[in-house]
Amino acid sequence: MRIIKATNYSDMSRKAANVISAQVILKSNCVLGLATGATVLGIYQQLIDWYEKGDIDFSSVHSVNLDEYVGLPAEHEQSYRYYMDHNFFHKINILSENTNLPNGLAENIDEECRRYDALIEKLGGIDLQLLGLGHNGHIGFNEPDQAFEKTTHCVTLKDSTIKANARFFEHEDQVPKKAVTMGIKSIMQAKRIVLCVSGITKAEILKKVLTGPVTPALPGSILQMHPNLTVVADAEALSLL
Ligand code: GLP
Repeated sequence: MRIIKATNYSDMSRKAANVISAQVILKSNCVLGLATGATVLGIYQQLIDWYEKGDIDFSSVHSVNLDEYVGLPAEHEQSYRYYMDHNFFHKINILSENTNLPNGLAENIDEECRRYDALIEKLGGIDLQLLGLGHNGHIGFNEPDQAFEKTTHCVTLKDSTIKANARFFEHEDQVPKKAVTMGIKSIMQAKRIVLCVSGITKAEILKKVLTGPVTPALPGSILQMHPNLTVVADAEALSLL
């Protein structure tokens, strides 16, 4: 595990963007595993800035996102498809047909999960998986559980996750209760993982995830077993380590 210490949020964003940019420059047709949430917004903005300066070319990149809410159409402002399109994809030259998210509106969600796993396999796996960290230690939407779920699956979100994500919705009761998420196996099979964490409110969970026992009660703890994990975190998030 490599820990890159950043001074603050913007430093974290730039440092993480540097790792992603190096991946894209070294392998122009790479598969990027992408994440949503507030933490990674600064990273996308930094990559957009470098793209606009002509420093990065995304034209051969494929992307697979970690997760999507069940029941929100792509045009819904809180769907992860909308987030990715508006915060990243529409501002760079990635081909829209090369961008992938689970379809949370699929009639048969189980089939959709199998489709997504097959897609990741067909793409040859993920070269670099970007991750944020939920306050309860979730990665993607892999919530604390009795066992690690290996493949793409439908989850019922924990109350704490619904509350945490309510800040993006007008009312808490508008937050979907279910989501489709990539499983632990697809995440762990990524050749490189970049975990980005910022702020004092994540300090305790980050310490548990990186130094506590590996347990499905804390899904992010599995990352300790990954052979190529880079943690990019700011001083506040690292303050207990
Ligand atoms: C959501 C996403 C996760 C993300 C987490 C943390 O639950 N499904 O992929 O890592 O939020 O979000 P934030 O960065 O806003 O704290």
